Amino acid sequence: MSARSRGLGARFALVALLAVGAASAEDPAPRFGDGAATFKANCAVCHRATGVGQPGLAPPLLSYPGRYLERPEGRRQLVLTVLYGMFGDILVDEKHYNFKMPEFARLDDATLADVLNFVAFDLSRAPASAVPLAPADIARERALALSGEAVRRHRAEALDAPAP
Ligand code: HEC
Repeated sequence: MSARSRGLGARFALVALLAVGAASAEDPAPRFGDGAATFKANCAVCHRATGVGQPGLAPPLLSYPGRYLERPEGRRQLVLTVLYGMFGDILVDEKHYNFKMPEFARLDDATLADVLNFVAFDLSRAPASAVPLAPADIARERALALSGEAVRRHRAEALDAPAP
């Protein structure tokens, strides 16, 4: 075997390995695949690819986002978080996080709707009956100029609001 064909063989083996990894049974295809790609590129650095977060740095996204989706102020909360970021102390699963979530207003409405739907349905297991966010839900909140601190305060209201 020449050095060249050995090199090619190694490359094929790597590609095969990656393909197997991507199709593993523990990793079912996400419902919002475009959102998954956006999440990986923009959010996973802090929240990790599986949404488990990092202690003291970024909260897990495995329970609240799915719950937000079922109430109007919660739906707005998800949108406000990506448009304006979030700043200040929050409590998630009995752990405090007090850091700065950056804003992602540069991403377009459809991209932000997809990434939030991926977070809420694929990571946070919103009930299948919940209505996904639409690009118009993002567009509607763009002109507010909120601070990350204001988004954090709205979070408390969104969580306290009675479920419909
Ligand atoms: C630089 C790190 C960082 C990046 C990148 C990041 N986040 Fe965050 N995120 C945070 C932090 C920190 C918080 C909590 C902010 C606080 O303490 O007030 C947060 C909070 C959130 C929340 C609120 C969770 C809750 O319980 O209310 C959501 C939803 C969220 N992030 C989604 C995303 C999405 C979607 C992206 C990518 C588009 C993203 N984040 C990118 C750090 C990050």
